[in-house]
Amino acid sequence: MASPENTTASDPLLSLEPARKVSVRDVFGVDSDMMVPAFETRDSHVPDIDEAYRFDPQTTLAICAGFAFDRRVMVQGYHGTGKSTHIEQVAARLNWPLVRVNLDSHVSRIDLVGKDAIVLREGKQVTEFREGMLPWALQRPIALVFDEYDAGRPDVMFVIQRVLEQSGKLTLLDQNRVIRPNPWFRLFSTTNTIGLGDTTGLYHGTQQINQGQMDRWSLVTTLNYLAHDVEQEIVLAKAPEWGKTAEGKRDIAAMVRVADMTRNAFMNGDISTVMSPRTVITWAQNATIFGGDIGTAFRLTFLNKCDELERPTVAEFYQRAFGTDLPESAARVKVA
Ligand SMILES: Nc1ncnc2c1ncn2[C@@H]1O[C@H](COP(=O)(O)OP(=O)(O)OP(=O)(O)O)[C@@H](O)[C@H]1O
Ligand SMILES: [Mg+2]
Repeated sequence: MASPENTTASDPLLSLEPARKVSVRDVFGVDSDMMVPAFETRDSHVPDIDEAYRFDPQTTLAICAGFAFDRRVMVQGYHGTGKSTHIEQVAARLNWPLVRVNLDSHVSRIDLVGKDAIVLREGKQVTEFREGMLPWALQRPIALVFDEYDAGRPDVMFVIQRVLEQSGKLTLLDQNRVIRPNPWFRLFSTTNTIGLGDTTGLYHGTQQINQGQMDRWSLVTTLNYLAHDVEQEIVLAKAPEWGKTAEGKRDIAAMVRVADMTRNAFMNGDISTVMSPRTVITWAQNATIFGGDIGTAFRLTFLNKCDELERPTVAEFYQRAFGTDLPESAARVKVA
């Protein structure tokens, strides 16, 4: 994780403030009177708007409460269900600068807080403290998102604990500095588990989260699989070529049905690999790449990721959804 430039008074982000309030109902289509601050200009850290994004009401409300009332919000759920992009897409519509940090086991305390570095000043080598992402973001109107929060190393989690508190300050011991949070600094996290360890067997590398730490997340919202029709619309939004014909729409509906069958079979413990909304989107896009060959795309997008012993079961889901057997691998044609 690259360390950002040190905080200098010249950074325009430091003085950036929200200039207006927007209605959650008008902007996100969620039935609530909540108003959320929004920035006038789009700094380079503001995520791009995905016009096709579909907002899950409860998740969106929790995230908006995070922005409006400086609540610490954790979004929990299976992989590929939209946790990270929900936070991004809310920020994108508020013009709120956002930075995502993936807290997998490679991220160390020093990466997050900062370290001494040798830099050239007027031609001379000097040792200077280089702020890590946390002190850098804390001083700015930034929404900091810790992805894979439940994979964070214990030494990293203790650093975060302090800033989790309302207006939590960060003490840089070796610098004798106490950093106060910018009033528009916000903190979010995404996890696959709820911090009690991985009960599904899907998420290797996740850890139990210390209960004192969990206690400091003021809102925990769960974003699991979306309703069939909503997911179908999202896939059609990401692979619009399939929406041009009734047959194309039927194929996407069948793809989502296959995904649903893998999720039910997974919940029943019959199979150990589950198809996420992200994978359905990829399957549709791959099928386009392979000239509409849905079967080959299915094999290369998902089936080949499954345990060999479970492939017949998964292939049967395909057969039940499409009413045809999964074709053998791509057909061979006579080379002229
Ligand atoms: N509600 C939605 N509307 C539109 N696209 C969505 C939605 N939910 C998910 N997607 C798409 O699915 C993909 C996966 O979403 P995202 O990365 O947010 O998942 P995630 O829950 O953070 O996954 P992981 O646990 O693996 O980090 C993205 O390409 C995103 O654009
Ligand atoms: Mg994510």
